[in-house]
Amino acid sequence: MQDPLISAEKLDGDEESANIRPSSLDDYIGQAHLKRLLKIYLGAAKRRGEPLDHCMFHGPPGLGKTSLAYIIAHEMGAELTATRGPAIEKAGDLAAILTSLGAGAVLFIDEIHRLPRIVEEHLYSAMEDFELDIVIGTGPGARTIKLPLPPFTLIGATTRLGLLSSPLRDRFGIDHRLEFYPPEDLARIVLRASKIWKVSLEVEGAMEIGRRSRGTPRIANRLLRRLRDFIEEEEKDSLTDSLASQYLEFLGIDELGLDKMTRQMLLLMIDSFGGGPVGIDTLAAALSEEKETIEDVYEPFLLQRGLLMKTPRGRVATEACYRHFERIPPSKGGQLSLPEEVT
Ligand SMILES: Nc1ncnc2c1ncn2[C@@H]1O[C@H](COP(=O)(O)OP(=O)(O)OP(=O)(O)O)[C@@H](O)[C@H]1O
Ligand SMILES: [Mg+2]
Repeated sequence: MQDPLISAEKLDGDEESANIRPSSLDDYIGQAHLKRLLKIYLGAAKRRGEPLDHCMFHGPPGLGKTSLAYIIAHEMGAELTATRGPAIEKAGDLAAILTSLGAGAVLFIDEIHRLPRIVEEHLYSAMEDFELDIVIGTGPGARTIKLPLPPFTLIGATTRLGLLSSPLRDRFGIDHRLEFYPPEDLARIVLRASKIWKVSLEVEGAMEIGRRSRGTPRIANRLLRRLRDFIEEEEKDSLTDSLASQYLEFLGIDELGLDKMTRQMLLLMIDSFGGGPVGIDTLAAALSEEKETIEDVYEPFLLQRGLLMKTPRGRVATEACYRHFERIPPSKGGQLSLPEEVT
């Protein structure tokens, strides 16, 4: 069996990203409401000497779900064990992980929607009663024994909440959707990263990155790293807003933060499909892109910014989308004014 556990470095992707992952709630920027709630829950759990209730974090990629797992473990002074849904193939894999946890440990399962059903069913009693049902033997002689587990906190993360079964979701006492970050928060995030990476970044330059990062901390930090290359290569003293916007344009990132691929998708909808509705399968085929990538990575921000609408008959480019590309939207009563319910 492949080891289902993942190390901290692997979770971070690379060493440089690992450096800037926030490790305490105070370093975690934005998401003020969530932070306030977590402070209360963590304080109460610590006072009672109990592990924190199980937590589920969902939302688009790069908004800080994995970071929250680190922070919770750190704030609880607990050990963090990390794994991914698809890495736990059998009930035995889950048993091996759960029985190795120390009291009060935090178990992080990323992509929890991809847990095999049989594993998920074993997780229910582990989460609820801190007990694991183990079947010993096979056939008519088989019997089930209950193995007690030390109390632990399970943290689940997913970008696809819709794929999570409701019995599993119901077992999380804390369930929170992460929202896109406003530009000011993203600016604070890149200013923090600029100190760690020793990049001379002006506040206005940080705001420019914040405005063009599609509400996503991971994108903001990634752009900062690219721009750092530019200012180092061109021997500039610091990253100002005009340099930031100049470099970002050069990288193909427009004022809304849309990259080439996203613009290609929207322009395809406008120019080749009359603004839609276009089925997701048609879009995926036309762009040679995975349907899941379009749904998980590109669409959430476009929907939030009102550039795209989902209808039962497919995706529709909105008036705002036409305006962004300086195109004339089809007249009212045409393809844009769809009365259908948004799915
Ligand atoms: N609130 C925040 N404050 C500061 N930095 C943040 C915050 N949220 C995310 N980041 C940064 O963004 C990076 C991506 O965050 P993280 O890996 O936690 O996202 P995720 O939601 O788990 O993404 P995925 O769905 O792709 O797994 C982190 O390495 C961290 O540096
Ligand atoms: Mg993650």
